[in-house]
Amino acid sequence: MTDAARRHDTGMRGFASDNNAGVHPEVLAAIALVNGGHQPAYGSDDYTAHLQQIFRHHFGEQAVAYPVFSGTGANVIALQALLPRWGAVIVAESAHINTDECGAPEKMAGIKSYPVATPDGKLTPELIDRQAWGWGNEHRAQPMAVSLSQCTELGTCYSPAEIRAICDHAHELGMLVHVDGARLANAAAFLDEPMRRFTTDAGVDIVSFGGTKNGLLLGEAVVVLDSGKFRDVAYLRMMSMQLASKMRFISVQFEALLGGDLWLRNAKHANAMAVRLESAVQGIDGVRLMRPVQANSVFAVLPREATERLQKRFPFYLWNERTGEVRWMCAFDTTIEDIDSFVDALGEEMRTTSSL
Ligand SMILES: Cc1ncc(COP(=O)(O)O)c(C=O)c1O
Repeated sequence: MTDAARRHDTGMRGFASDNNAGVHPEVLAAIALVNGGHQPAYGSDDYTAHLQQIFRHHFGEQAVAYPVFSGTGANVIALQALLPRWGAVIVAESAHINTDECGAPEKMAGIKSYPVATPDGKLTPELIDRQAWGWGNEHRAQPMAVSLSQCTELGTCYSPAEIRAICDHAHELGMLVHVDGARLANAAAFLDEPMRRFTTDAGVDIVSFGGTKNGLLLGEAVVVLDSGKFRDVAYLRMMSMQLASKMRFISVQFEALLGGDLWLRNAKHANAMAVRLESAVQGIDGVRLMRPVQANSVFAVLPREATERLQKRFPFYLWNERTGEVRWMCAFDTTIEDIDSFVDALGEEMRTTSSL
């Protein structure tokens, strides 16, 4: 008998984050399946070995995957692999590595970021050029990498051609390209393209591939797309405190996710729920949608009083304190009923606000 007790209401749903969802039952079952017996630690297990062929299937024959604990850790490792100590990375101002990692790339890896303001979270060759200068000048950290997020933090997706243009431009200037793919599966679902089409085939050098937001208990992976490059990732992973001793339990989660179509089913579902939310909200007076819905998040502006009351019923984040923009995020386990009750509640709060 366990002494553990359930301490939360499992009927409680929200739109704060796909991280707030639980673990997909197929992933949980996979973890239970590989429990028992002993397996070598630190990635020398049978599951981590098998995982390599699964990643090669998705990212090409040259891909090598390094499972890690967190997306921040994956980003810090990947950027260290790309940059010397005097290197800098060009990023969208809204990028997670710039705004939401407490300066981890700067502190843990000593990496300078050069942020660029973007209208929609997406870099372009022209925007990159605003920071791509100063090579050979020892007074300026050297811009030697570009990092883009697919999907972006604003819920937008790059097309394969857009990523190809960025990679070509960066490579011509001697820079390498990292993709923060915490939600790469959601981009694949939106674009209706295999993941390699807008990573390996588009010229990307290294990817932080996300699992947690798409149904894993925890697990991300640094994926080197050309095994001839960046051979030091294994050392960087250990130095960055991201080497799991019981790695089989991370690797098997990825096997459950990527071995079949669970990754796509989950991502398509989360995206479809966001589209449903978007269209339902369009009919509510006073709610203004702010961005195209291309993945699993919806951004809107509504009166602050309505936001505050609604947040007590369904948790979600105020995305921008200044403008009052909010983010509603769907997950693999968001249901149609969740969307419908949320939209009903939103409608009620908007009516209360207008009658005050
Ligand atoms: C785009 C993006 N990258 C990276 C991360 C970091 O992941 P973690 O919270 O696992 O460190 C997140 C988390 O929300 C994210 O949204």
